[in-house]
Amino acid sequence: MKVTFSIIKADVGGWPGHSTVHPELVEVAKNKLQQAKESGLLIDFHVTHCGDDLQLIMTHTKGVDNEEIHRLAWETFKEATEKAKWLKLYGAGQDLLTDAFSGNVKGMGPGVAEMEFTERKAEPVIAFMMDKTEPGAFNLPIFRTFADPFNTAGLVIDPSMHAGFVFEIWDIQEHKMVTMNSPEEMYDILALIGAKSRFVIKRVYPKEGSKLPADEPVAVISTEKLYQVAGRYIGKDDPVAVVRAQSGLPALGEVLNPYAFPHLVSGWMRGSHNGPIMPVSVENARCTRFDGPPRVVALGFQLAEGRLIGPVDLFADPGFDRARQIALEIADYIRSHGPFEPHRLPLEEMEYTTLPEILEKLKERFVKVESPEEAKNIAAQV
Ligand code: F6R
Ligand code: MG
Ligand code: MG
Repeated sequence: MKVTFSIIKADVGGWPGHSTVHPELVEVAKNKLQQAKESGLLIDFHVTHCGDDLQLIMTHTKGVDNEEIHRLAWETFKEATEKAKWLKLYGAGQDLLTDAFSGNVKGMGPGVAEMEFTERKAEPVIAFMMDKTEPGAFNLPIFRTFADPFNTAGLVIDPSMHAGFVFEIWDIQEHKMVTMNSPEEMYDILALIGAKSRFVIKRVYPKEGSKLPADEPVAVISTEKLYQVAGRYIGKDDPVAVVRAQSGLPALGEVLNPYAFPHLVSGWMRGSHNGPIMPVSVENARCTRFDGPPRVVALGFQLAEGRLIGPVDLFADPGFDRARQIALEIADYIRSHGPFEPHRLPLEEMEYTTLPEILEKLKERFVKVESPEEAKNIAAQV
């Protein structure tokens, strides 16, 4: 059977500040999705959170971008916002950018990762959720899972994976996409996705001749850029991803292993700092220190005719303790830079902060420096 796996998420109020989600918001969402399950719209669902983001994990047979499913998510976020307002949670409704739903939540604030595929005899699926960072934060781990033979042994030794994978890469500034083959174009792929604030991996597909249909994605990442949608800074996107595993795909452990390296991502405090991404359990997905450090959570499921058998909280494993320790050491180190780059993001990524205002304020006081002699004279006058 063909099943659609959808994660739709939004920050509709933090408790306290931007740290985590109040349990009553999770309750509101559970009740709403339970009704949808009883009415037959959903096969199954799981509601959770990562940091201050409310996460709706849903299975159904409606396909991607379906109006009924998106309306359900939108209405769920609206109801949760009402509860958040009543509790006076922080930034109630912050990710819901308009009042009226217009057929699809994309571009309206929430983040979306969904894919439709033929459920195999046994179908392991992992839902990844990040807080205090941007979609490009998935570039490194997804690349390593599907293209790096030093991470994924199956690329070398499993004949059904040996041909590699196809990457769909989006230029989120120019709103364009390109499809590229790995390993043939690996260096070109890296040239793009290393610029993670601009080029992001959107989907991964198997190649023709693999065990899986080449037109059904095996990984998908949310790529909404909230600040571009809103036109002003209202927080980082806090992306989500869905990845399928095993039997001709990277094994569960090959999907998870890249997160044992807490790589640097942008986001963290005020969406304006580089910092390590720390893999944590749902229980520990609370962004406290300097509003972070950025977190990633992974929930594993087996699908049974679309039913969600799980979740297993995959980063609750002590196997990731060392990654957490390293993340904290990096956090200490990079935090010591205070307002200096490269902890603080470079100018071009600070567009929606006070920096343009400061430059504007000082505009008249900037004088042209023509020669070293002149510079000395000017300095003498000040
Ligand atoms: C980062 C984030 C927080 C806030 C910070 C200031 O994505 O959401 O770090 O930017 O707590 O929040 P305000 O301006 O709402 O006081
Ligand atoms: Mg928030
Ligand atoms: Mg968030």
